[in-house]
Amino acid sequence: MNKYIEEAKEKFGKMLEEQLERVDRINADKEFVDYGKLDQIVIGVVGGDGIGPAITKEAQRILEFLLEDEKKSGKVVFNVIDGCTIENRAAANKAIPDDVLAELKKCHVILKGPTTTPRAGDPWPNIESANVAMRKELDLFANVRPVKVPEEGIDWTFYRENTEGGYAVGSKGQHVNDDLAIDFVVTTTEGSERIARAAFEHAKKTGKTRVTAVTKANVVKTTDGKFLDICKKVAKEYPEIEFDDWYIDIMTAKLVDKKRRTQFQVLVLPNLYGDILTDEAAEFQGGVGTAGSANIGKRYAMFEAIHGSAPRMVQEGRDKYADPCSIIRAAVMLLEHIGYADKAKKLERALDICMYEEKKLVITGRADGATSAEFADYVMSKLND
Ligand code: IPM
Ligand code: MG
Repeated sequence: MNKYIEEAKEKFGKMLEEQLERVDRINADKEFVDYGKLDQIVIGVVGGDGIGPAITKEAQRILEFLLEDEKKSGKVVFNVIDGCTIENRAAANKAIPDDVLAELKKCHVILKGPTTTPRAGDPWPNIESANVAMRKELDLFANVRPVKVPEEGIDWTFYRENTEGGYAVGSKGQHVNDDLAIDFVVTTTEGSERIARAAFEHAKKTGKTRVTAVTKANVVKTTDGKFLDICKKVAKEYPEIEFDDWYIDIMTAKLVDKKRRTQFQVLVLPNLYGDILTDEAAEFQGGVGTAGSANIGKRYAMFEAIHGSAPRMVQEGRDKYADPCSIIRAAVMLLEHIGYADKAKKLERALDICMYEEKKLVITGRADGATSAEFADYVMSKLND
């Protein structure tokens, strides 16, 4: 028995060392990139798996249309990065193959389609999710997910911590022996401070009056407790913004309470709660297929569709009918992030008209609906409305 414990302790020790090194890296990386000051902005385009390439291509086409002048002048360049497919990742036995990672690091921002996440029992090795690996490798600590349903009074922005919690060492849990498996949750001061500050800064910039932290600090006392304490501390720097905190279980319930839910504005939460709550929230807006997601770090940022890769659609030859709305929403966030707020607004408006107002074309995922390309053309035809 002692042998197992000694082995587990050794692995645990290594993990602690890695996490403390990560803290040093967070501390060394102080400033956000100022895109306005760059001579050239490199936009990486990663199609991913399944329906990913089909929908990402359409979002890229829209971006290229909106950034035509910038492309001509060389201010913006697009860099299509192939190779982040499940086949290549499985062959390299890595969440992100080295050559793909090197290409990603040459970009400033990345537009990313869905990537297949293997799980035990799949034909693939059980490697880490490419999303999760990209977020960690590029230190994309803030996962920003807006959800809006104007007619219901819903206007939420989720600031999900994106590199820590249950995800930091999610693929490094330990089977101590046949009977005992242990996973780890990681919370750092630096990691919590930067996400809390990002949420408050967003609230301040957009005139929001309330930030809500969501944890389970009554039970997960050490890590969630620390996250919550740090949110409270950061809140003191923003006396003009109201701060409150909820537990994840009751918050999950309150999101379906039509009266209470309209009061929430900006929500800040550890990784796993953010993962779960943002799927629930997106459902009110029409499902995860309608939501975009921004993964923001100090040096890099990545914008992605939040749905899966739907391999069955490809097997059945239906990928050309896949819904591009989530990745187009991601493109809106990308434009805004690199300093083209007007173009972002135009695209968001056009998408709202096509998805919710005029609805001249409908995506059904099958031949009785529009293709992704037809829908993208439709969106582009509404850019000046
Ligand atoms: C998301 C997804 C990912 C996550 C999966 C695919 C690993 O659900 O972006 O929310 O859990 O973060
Ligand atoms: Mg999720």
